[in-house]
Amino acid sequence: MSILIINIKQLLQVHDSNVTIVKGEAMKTLPIIEDAYVYIDNDTIIEYGKMEDCDGIEAETTIDATGKIVLPSWCDSHTHIVYAGNRTSEFVDRINGLTYAEIANRGGGILNSAKLLQNTSEEDLYNQSTKRMEELIKMGTGAFEIKTGYGLTVEAELKMLRVIKRIKQESLAKITPTLLAAHAIPEAYRANKDAYIKLITEKLIPQASELNIANFIDVFCEEGYFDIDDTEAILKAGLKHKFRPKIHVNQFNILGGIALGVKYNALSVDHLEELNEADIEALKGSDTIPVALPGCSYFLSIPYTPARKLIDAGLPLAIATDYNPGSAPSGNMNFVVSAACVKLKMTPEEAINAATINGAYAMRISNMYGSITRGKKANLIITKPLDHYSEIPYAFAHNPVEQVILNGQLKNI
Ligand code: NIG
Ligand code: FE
Repeated sequence: MSILIINIKQLLQVHDSNVTIVKGEAMKTLPIIEDAYVYIDNDTIIEYGKMEDCDGIEAETTIDATGKIVLPSWCDSHTHIVYAGNRTSEFVDRINGLTYAEIANRGGGILNSAKLLQNTSEEDLYNQSTKRMEELIKMGTGAFEIKTGYGLTVEAELKMLRVIKRIKQESLAKITPTLLAAHAIPEAYRANKDAYIKLITEKLIPQASELNIANFIDVFCEEGYFDIDDTEAILKAGLKHKFRPKIHVNQFNILGGIALGVKYNALSVDHLEELNEADIEALKGSDTIPVALPGCSYFLSIPYTPARKLIDAGLPLAIATDYNPGSAPSGNMNFVVSAACVKLKMTPEEAINAATINGAYAMRISNMYGSITRGKKANLIITKPLDHYSEIPYAFAHNPVEQVILNGQLKNI
């Protein structure tokens, strides 16, 4: 199946050589071709360029994109999209004055979602999750990282991994699975956290490794959850089985998780609503990308990640949704791109870089996703008619997407 997209008003994120990350000052640049075409064969971007050079190219399907913008699909590097039910009652409790921590201490929060998931069949969990994903594909997301962490027993965590595996096999979107068994301390282990850590390091990680599904290990490194020593023990056990760390750090408190992540060559450190100079220094010269989650800051009314400090220090930054039932019940990357501009003071170019190529880096797939480059996978967004790409973040809460191409296949919205 070949597709030729012609008369593209602006083709975004075009790189002739295979870039895999964009850092610091370079994030201000978004390479574009005005009045462009793209030619796709099967699942691959074969050629692109100015319309005047398109003569002679023929394809089975031709799409006229007059007045429209084409860009790589969003790469959402941090989601908890596989979950059961919802937590609307906690949402109302928070409106009425309780904090996220108070709700969690009463047995709500992650433990509430774990109870729901443990009592949901694998089939039902798969159906609930794919329904969410289908909606997000229509909003332009073409790659999703998906975490476990609402199981909190060996059995339920493995159930989550099997559901993620099935999604990975059946979806046209690219999926990268992450084991987050260390998301919260289960009720049964409240008085004996070390026994739960032992269960993770000695049982769950080896079993997950045997299933050969997850590539990454995650820990919620936070007061009341897992401290630095716990986190280190879990990362070490994960690394023995070749799970690279991707960790939740600095959401509410600074425990030193960023330096720890860098020490263990984490692919990403995510959240960073709280950040100090030592954290920034630790990231310099590392291969670890910081990831901001503005939807979580919005929904919990907590500080936004100081993106300017990170980018102005020459560091890369990715943005992601953190889609989950407790702190960010939305997987809309268009909103995240807009919030990055409005609340994190990123320019549209920086935000789009953060949501495409850098998001792909934070999933270790940026050699094949996240830019318009010959040989990369054909995962593209074709927008509705727009005056300029800045309209994507400007018109917040709108869906700018008209069509998507996923793995070379066209989907009308
Ligand atoms: O990324 N920080 C920890 N985990 C999720 C929230 C999970 C929940 O409340 O269910 C997050 O914000
Ligand atoms: Fe998260």
